[in-house]
Amino acid sequence: MKSCTVALVAFLLVICLSCFGKAANQKGIGASFIFGDSLVDAGNNNYLPTLSKANISPNGIDFKASGGKPTGRYTNGRTIGDIVGEELGTANYAVPFLDPNSTGKAMLSGVNYASGGGGIMNATGRIFVNRLGMDIQIDYFNITRKQFDDLLGRSEARDYIMKQSIFSITIGANDFLNNYLLPVLSIGARISESPDGFVNDMIEHLRGQLTRLYRLDARKFVIGNVGPIGCIPYQKTINQLTEDECVDLPNKLAVRYNARLKDLLTELNDNLPGATFVLANVYDLVLELITNYKQHGFTTASKACCGNGGQFAGIIPCGPTSSMCSDRNKHVFWDPYHPSEAANLIIAKQLINGDTTVISPMNLKQLRDH
Ligand SMILES: *[C@@H]1O[C@H](CO)[C@@H](O)[C@H](O)[C@H]1NC(C)=O
Ligand SMILES: *[C@@H]1O[C@H](CO)[C@@H](O)[C@H](O)[C@H]1NC(C)=O
Ligand SMILES: *[C@@H]1O[C@H](CO)[C@@H](O)[C@H](O)[C@H]1NC(C)=O
Repeated sequence: MKSCTVALVAFLLVICLSCFGKAANQKGIGASFIFGDSLVDAGNNNYLPTLSKANISPNGIDFKASGGKPTGRYTNGRTIGDIVGEELGTANYAVPFLDPNSTGKAMLSGVNYASGGGGIMNATGRIFVNRLGMDIQIDYFNITRKQFDDLLGRSEARDYIMKQSIFSITIGANDFLNNYLLPVLSIGARISESPDGFVNDMIEHLRGQLTRLYRLDARKFVIGNVGPIGCIPYQKTINQLTEDECVDLPNKLAVRYNARLKDLLTELNDNLPGATFVLANVYDLVLELITNYKQHGFTTASKACCGNGGQFAGIIPCGPTSSMCSDRNKHVFWDPYHPSEAANLIIAKQLINGDTTVISPMNLKQLRDH
């Protein structure tokens, strides 16, 4: 009898310890709300009549959760958003807003609003006919925000959004690639605006967008700067560069925008009480992978694994008829535009644990516990 009681007490103790462990975890992060473009789209464009789609093989070939079937992610496996969610302890991947399943409890791990072709500016990505720009992504979050009130009750919903949710924003590359740099008069903005004028417009819009999210109770933000878009296989191919070269103008535009973004986030950290805006230095992280690709275990940083055309397979996007490399872990780029899962893993781990040269003023582990 006595030993039975002891066993029972020990048993309950174990259960309780594991239940406290869980509660502590859940306190860390509940939801990951993801905004942005094709770098983090997890399937929204599947539901849009658009020319920018990734729900065709072999995209997703290494994505375990779908058994290797395409999901709408523009890479062979997980996006940076997926990996960050996993590492910070959300129960599931953030569900795409346009997915019919994005209702009820499925939203508690977060919702993904990102859309291939989307940008800060409304006109960005018009060449794809359809995509969700940032303004619309935030309109959609406004809908989610009300659903959370119904799901959790107003006070708990507010707490959950403010304290247990991280808002990540990966946007801006398309404003250059699929707007400002487009040579077609009626689509691009370059004819009528100077580089500084255009970057200024982007920053003004982004300030408004981030402030809107703050008004909807977002408090923990991470915003990625624009990567070295002059080094992607597409740009290198159409400009007929050699392996070690990158196109100058796109990189210069990214650097200009990134400097202004840094100032904007400092300003918002000063002006919006209770909010933390973290800058993810994607530009330097990706440039490091491209420059020192061999040290990071890759055999090429110029040639797309999946794609066709020119010396870097950089013209025709990845699809069923594309040629595909034999070792997907050895390519920094999966397709003419997007990093491979292997590259995404290295970048994500840096954002989670890295120092202030890559993520500042704090990394994502610290933001979670902040
Ligand atoms: C929706 O959820 C159900 C049940 O979990 C699953 O079988 C189905 O594949 C999901 N649909 C989509 C589009 O993800
Ligand atoms: C962008 O488009 C949306 C929806 O079409 C519209 O509501 C919004 O006012 C537009 N924003 C700007 C700055 O034009
Ligand atoms: C959210 O939507 C409501 C209308 O349903 C609107 O009144 C409000 O201004 C919106 N909030 C933001 C921050 O966009």
